[in-house]
Amino acid sequence: MIKKEIIPNTTLDSIGVDTDWEEKIQLFVENMYLYKSAIQQINTKLEILDNDFKVKNDYNPIHHIESRIKTPESIIQKALRKNLSFSDSWKDNITDIAGIRVICNYKEDVYSISKQLLKQEDITLLKEKDYILHPKESGYKALHLIIETPVYLTNSVEHVPVEIQIRTIAMDTWASLEHELKYKNKNGLDDKTIKRLKKCATKLSEIDQELQDIHNEQFLSQENSTKSYSANTLLLELL
Ligand code: GTP
Ligand code: MG
Repeated sequence: MIKKEIIPNTTLDSIGVDTDWEEKIQLFVENMYLYKSAIQQINTKLEILDNDFKVKNDYNPIHHIESRIKTPESIIQKALRKNLSFSDSWKDNITDIAGIRVICNYKEDVYSISKQLLKQEDITLLKEKDYILHPKESGYKALHLIIETPVYLTNSVEHVPVEIQIRTIAMDTWASLEHELKYKNKNGLDDKTIKRLKKCATKLSEIDQELQDIHNEQFLSQENSTKSYSANTLLLELL
């Protein structure tokens, strides 16, 4: 039986899940800790990369990291939307149950973090969508990676998919505000607003590029002077 505190029966009724699915959903919910473990692992990898970059270059490419696990309700909704049946593997078909958002300072940081992460032996890239090079119709920009990471359990190894969205602060600002506006307007945004938002995305891209150029100039000029940051300083910060 589905645990009521996890998915209330009223929710299951309202989204049209019949009792045949209950066992599968229960099993799935019980395995949610796998996704939490995968997020922990990737978060640690990202923090290590950020710290190492700081030691070597006196600069943190990552501004901050956010993560979330999809709620059982929205997993079921997605399974229904994708017409997945009882026998389909949800793990293989719903790859954004574990989600990590990496907010970088500059555009070049987005690609360097992605490159450093993907070259690690235990990370398998399943899918890459570069919405920076090819923005979505809305104006949305980010680099999306679906990766698989091994989670070592007592008697087995589970390969768990994780969706990683990597964006700059400017890209994230746009995505957050646009998402909120869309969410608040249940009837959808009108054409004029959609166009204005798209224009905002273009302007923010120009600002992103300008900030990148300024950063590169400053960074290069600093490289010629002696670096004050050391591994000892980092160690003190981490303690
Ligand atoms: P989903 O079923 O929504 O996961 O779509 P998908 O599997 O086709 O993946 P997609 O590459 O479109 O990325 C989905 C995620 O990217 C969403 O859950 C959002 O977090 C983000 N995203 C994609 N498009 C937009 C957009 O136009 N605006 C905003 N704010 N976020 C977007
Ligand atoms: Mg999604």
